[in-house]
Amino acid sequence: MAGESQKWILMATARAPTNIAVIKYWGKRDENLILPINDSISITLDPDHLSATTTVAVSPSFEKDRMWLNGKEIPLSGGRYQNCLRELRSRAGDFEDEKRGIQIKKEGWNKLHFHIASYNNFPTAAGLASSAAGFACLVFSLAKLMNVKEELGQLSAIARQGSGSACRSLYGGFVKWTMGNEMSGRDSKAVQLANETHWEDLIIIVAVVSSRQKETSSTSGMRESVETSSLIQHRAKVVVPSRILQMEEAIRNRNFSSFARLTCADSNQFHAVCLDTSPPIFYMNDTSHRIINLVERWNRHEETLQVAYTFDAGPNAVLIAPNRKVASSLLQRLLFYFPPGPDYELNSYVLGDKTILQEAG
Ligand code: ADP
Ligand code: DP6
Ligand code: CO
Repeated sequence: MAGESQKWILMATARAPTNIAVIKYWGKRDENLILPINDSISITLDPDHLSATTTVAVSPSFEKDRMWLNGKEIPLSGGRYQNCLRELRSRAGDFEDEKRGIQIKKEGWNKLHFHIASYNNFPTAAGLASSAAGFACLVFSLAKLMNVKEELGQLSAIARQGSGSACRSLYGGFVKWTMGNEMSGRDSKAVQLANETHWEDLIIIVAVVSSRQKETSSTSGMRESVETSSLIQHRAKVVVPSRILQMEEAIRNRNFSSFARLTCADSNQFHAVCLDTSPPIFYMNDTSHRIINLVERWNRHEETLQVAYTFDAGPNAVLIAPNRKVASSLLQRLLFYFPPGPDYELNSYVLGDKTILQEAG
């Protein structure tokens, strides 16, 4: 019966962690395909504290694609969502569930619509890379639903078209996004440098200075930087290529001093580019600056660097300690200098860097 066969619904759920760049991506050479002007390197974070969970559903009774983010419907008209959906639909596989009498041929996916619901377990659009977790999760869950048989690397190139930083969240551990040089963007994707067990002693503490939505999204911020900053070109062409090599070596050798020096320097240069943008973009605030001071003063008093800090496009600090002992001393200092009060929302989370994408249903 035609009416009966319209009743089925298929669903898939996935969870994807966010990632924090230690060598930053800032600036595109192609806005539509999301191709960057430099390579970047990140650490994928613990999904228990910072991740997106997305459920995708498909049914012949759905009349259009729809999406809810943290319980609120958002328009899917933006090119990024459409680009991801188009790429995945074109790679969909056949699906058959004999028991329920459901059969979808490859081409059949083009006529079906999706309902997508996603939740972030951390602040959205506040500079903690929600777009990274969000688009990695969207692509991974849809690929599962549509029976897309692509390697993670190819899925990462699709997630990249949702949000650049998302391509790195398909892998756990230490991940590099190679900018690539093909016009199609096929070679602009993530590769895993080392998995989550490689440097297990590292402890990551995220100090949530503000969970408010930032005024300038990463997308428009980096567009303005590319248009108006001259420092950004020097950074992309001269500084980053050499830092990428040094960072890969520091990670390979678990050399914390070198890792911390590069991480802090790169965060500071990224924010210097923001300041070099016209009009200037201020992602960090007074609390962020005070946290930098605290770490810098501490590092200067010791023989080797104790802690690394890095800030994405927002005021929230990501602090990386080489081991539990230093991490607990760091937490004590944070609580001493920033006791809970009305001026900032300094909730600290202790995170490991285990990870990766989990299928949750
Ligand atoms: P952030 O620093 O949090 O990554 P961005 O400005 O880069 O901030 O991106 C925020 C945008 O990412 C949101 O406005 C939304 O469009 C998208 N986004 C965030 N979380 C999700 C999610 N779970 N699923 C799909 N898209 C998401
Ligand atoms: C500062 O990936 O959020 O976090 O590609 O426009 O979606 P779009 O931007 P996005 O930019 C992230 C910028 C950054 C650095 C980084 O994650 O490498
Ligand atoms: Co983002």
